[in-house]
Parts: sequence; structure tokens; C-alpha cells
Amino acid sequence: MKLVPKSLNARPGKAESLPPGPLPELRKPVSRSRTIRIDFRNGEIAPESLMDKFVIRGGNPLVGSVRISGAKNAALPAMAAALLTDEPVILENIPDVRDIHTERNLLVSMGAEVELGYGRASHRTTISCSNLVNPEAAYELVKTMRASTLVLGPLVARTGRARVSQPGGCAIGARPIDLHIKGLERLGAAIKQEHGYIEASAERLRGGHIIFDKITVTGTEDLMMAATLAEGETIMENCAREPEVIDLAALLTKMGAKIEGAGTHTIRIHGVEKLHGARHRIIPDRIEAGTFVIAAVLTGGDLQLTNCDPSHLGSLIQKLEECGVSITAGTDSMRVTNGHQLVAADISTEEFPGFPTDMQAQYMTLATQAQGTSLITENIFENRFMHAGELARMGANIKVDGRRAVVRGRTPLSSAAVQCSDLRASASLVIAALVADGETIIDRVYHIDRGYERIEEKLKGVGAQIRRIGEILPRRAAAPSVVA
Ligand code: UD1
Repeated sequence: MKLVPKSLNARPGKAESLPPGPLPELRKPVSRSRTIRIDFRNGEIAPESLMDKFVIRGGNPLVGSVRISGAKNAALPAMAAALLTDEPVILENIPDVRDIHTERNLLVSMGAEVELGYGRASHRTTISCSNLVNPEAAYELVKTMRASTLVLGPLVARTGRARVSQPGGCAIGARPIDLHIKGLERLGAAIKQEHGYIEASAERLRGGHIIFDKITVTGTEDLMMAATLAEGETIMENCAREPEVIDLAALLTKMGAKIEGAGTHTIRIHGVEKLHGARHRIIPDRIEAGTFVIAAVLTGGDLQLTNCDPSHLGSLIQKLEECGVSITAGTDSMRVTNGHQLVAADISTEEFPGFPTDMQAQYMTLATQAQGTSLITENIFENRFMHAGELARMGANIKVDGRRAVVRGRTPLSSAAVQCSDLRASASLVIAALVADGETIIDRVYHIDRGYERIEEKLKGVGAQIRRIGEILPRRAAAPSVVA
């Protein structure tokens, strides 16, 4: 059965009967401050940026100050949360990265109005979902960004139906979304899976008791959003406690949701009839901050990070201190200096507040330069050591065995042609190139553009020798997908 969208002006619970026939034409997207043109390659990477490479000459210490951008992983669920209301949601501190453009395209394809800020307000976006016409996330978008599945819960909660492409596996593992689906079923949704799509429908979701088999970040976020408009109380146990979950709960609360316990293992949500618009500032990106910290440490630099939140970086800071790094943390800034020999220390990735899997690759680069041997255990994803082979090509001594990697330290790195396999693996190669002898060429930097805002400009600003090559068109023109 194909789901047919109804007007989203209707209250949740007033589901219309599904008329037969194909999905209606997409409404033409409207934008108030800048024309959004949608490229129905939908999130495909423009051929010109596919060719982009970084050329990095290592050896310069990073010295100065870097402003940390808003967190991509908090911005993506916040944008999906705008689907829950017919009033505008204004989000500030939105990072200018490719995943955000993909999410904008996804929302616009559903009929949302997405106003992009420009100039000084370039990190603000206003999303109005008053007239959604197509509650569907197409394969073309979902395949480029798995977080697209975050629209599943909000769509079914608000419109009574959702049709979302199954994401499939990705470079770092199988990454199923079975827990999102099971959770929605617990909230009363009927789920059908066919032709590579998940179709969810419900007259109105009803509160339920969800115990996650495994801690999942976007699963917690997806179901928290769904439960805000469900009838009655939802209790979710074994929830993710990441700062991004807390940030989403803060936005939803501003929108009128009744949520208790975000940031703990148990979240209670009292469903409401309707949510309203809100204004919200996205938290700083802890993974971008951590990446710059490790780059500063390895280059023997002296770096000040501003607009960051050191309280989200506790496990990383503690580990680096164990390695002999000196870090001074304020409330929204931190300074990292390193003139000492690094000492090896083992890490094991865990859910927050443990050591983040999204920092594992960057830490592996650090381990190649520490005195001694480090054991790195990856507990979250089954295939997240793709960077090890590329680091080995630069001279690192790394043995991978399943979910464990043994890194022998103090191996000089030398320049090589390497290529990115996923977002955080790319960051580890950039850091390695910053300390390598000679000029490293890093290919497929479109992976890094998914989640790091103008990383080459930020690095250049603190003394790195880095340039992007392979551009045919200016990069700005290539980022947002577009069309008429
Ligand atoms: C989020 C982050 C990602 C980070 C990851 C772990 C976003 C947009 N992405 O991804 O950067 O690396 O958390 O911190 O926030 N799992 C299942 N079934 C499910 C869902 C997850 O088995 O339905 C498994 C996954 O395969 C993985 C583990 O649970 O092994 C954790 O995954 P999850 O927390 O869901 O990661 P994401 O939310 O996709």
C-alpha cells in the first residue's frame, strides 16, 4: 500500500482515509529570504566537489583561536522536530555543512518552507511546516544521510503516516533502524516494509513503554519526538544520554512538549495535542572541538577554542590528560597546549558519557605519536577502523583484529596519497597530514564536508598549510542542492 499524504493542518488523530492513486505533485518550495532551488539529484554530491582534495604540508603548530560551530548531530534532529508543528521553528547556530543542506532538501521535498539565513545570520534557519504535502523521505536522500530517518517519528506523529526509505548499511557498519521501528509499534503505529521503504501509520499514536534493547542516539531522539504528540504517557528506558538528546528535549519543551529525564536513562513524555513554534540555539559541536584539540596536541600547538562546551568533552579531556596533555577549560572555551612527549593510553568507545566513537579515529592518529602502545576498542560500530589502513600508508604501525586495534606509538608519519572513507576517518587523516613529513594529498574530502564547517579555512587561520584543490565551481555554489 502506498501512503498518501493528507493536509498537515489537520490535528493529529484525525487521520483521513487513504485515497487511492499516486502521491500528489510536490508543492513548489517557497523561501522568504533566499531562493532555494532543489536539485532532484537530492543530496547527491555535485560532480565538481566529488573531485575536491586537500593538499596539506605538515609540520606547523596550530596556534591561535578557533570558533567551534553548532553541532551537526544536534541540528539534524532539531530540524526534524520542526515537522511536529505548523508554526515556524527558528534555529540558531546551525552549522554550514553538507548534511544540513541535505536535511533542508528533505524538508523542502515534503512541502516545508525553509528559510536560509544569509550574511551575519547565515547560521540561522527558519522552518515552517504549515503545509506539508508529502510525508516521504526518498531513497535518494536517505542513502546520502542516514540521519534522514529522524523524520519517521515526527511525521507519523503529526500526519498519521510516514514513508521513509530504509537506510541500508554504511561504511562503518550495518546500522539497522529496527529499534526505531519497534518503538513506533509500541506507540501503536502500524508498520509495513516493502520496496525498500518503511511505511508507518496511526490514527493517533498512544503512549507506551519502550525499553531499548541497545542504546541508540537517533532512536531515542526519533521516538522522543513521536511521543510528544502521542495520547497519554510514554516511558522510554535505556535511552541515550548524549548532549544532543538533551538539546532536542530543550527545543521540544520550548515547543510545548512535556518531557522529563532527558540526559538520564529514563525519559518520560506526556503527550500533548499540539506543539507550537519556538526559537532555539543549537549546542556547540563537541566532535569538531575534540578534533581541533587533538590536532593542536599533535602539532605541539597552543590553541584556544571558543563557543564550545567543555562539559560535553569530559571523557576526551580526561584521556588526554592521562596522555600528558595540558587543557584549561572555561565554561564556553578551552585552551590546549602541548610541549611534552605524549604517553600512550588505551581507549574503549562507549555511549555518552564514555569515550565517543566519533572521536576514535582522531584518537588513533594521536596514538601513532604517543610513547608506548595503545589498545583501541570500538564497541559501538562493527567496522569503524577504515582509517587504520590509510594511516598505515603514512607510516603508522597499527594491527586491527575485529573490534580492537593495537597502535604502536612514536612512528614518524610521512606524506602519501590517502583517501577518506567516512566523516570521522577523514578527520583522522587531516590530523595525520598536519604532522606528517611532506605534502599529503587527501582524496574524497566530500566526506569531511558532511560534518566539518570550512575545516580548511579554520585550520589555515591557526597556521596550518592546507588548500583545497579540484574545484571547478566555487564551493559555496556546490553545497546546497537546488532547483526550480
Ligand atoms: C549517532 C550519531 C553518530 C554517532 C552515533 C554513536 C547522529 C546524527 N549520528 O548515530 O555520529 O557515531 O550516534 O554515538 O546523531 N542500532 C541498532 N538498531 C537501531 C539503532 C541502532 O542495532 O535501530 C545500533 C547501531 O548499529 C550501533 C548502535 O546501535 O551499533 C548505536 O547506534 P546509534 O546510537 O543509533 O547511532 P546513530 O544514532 O545512527
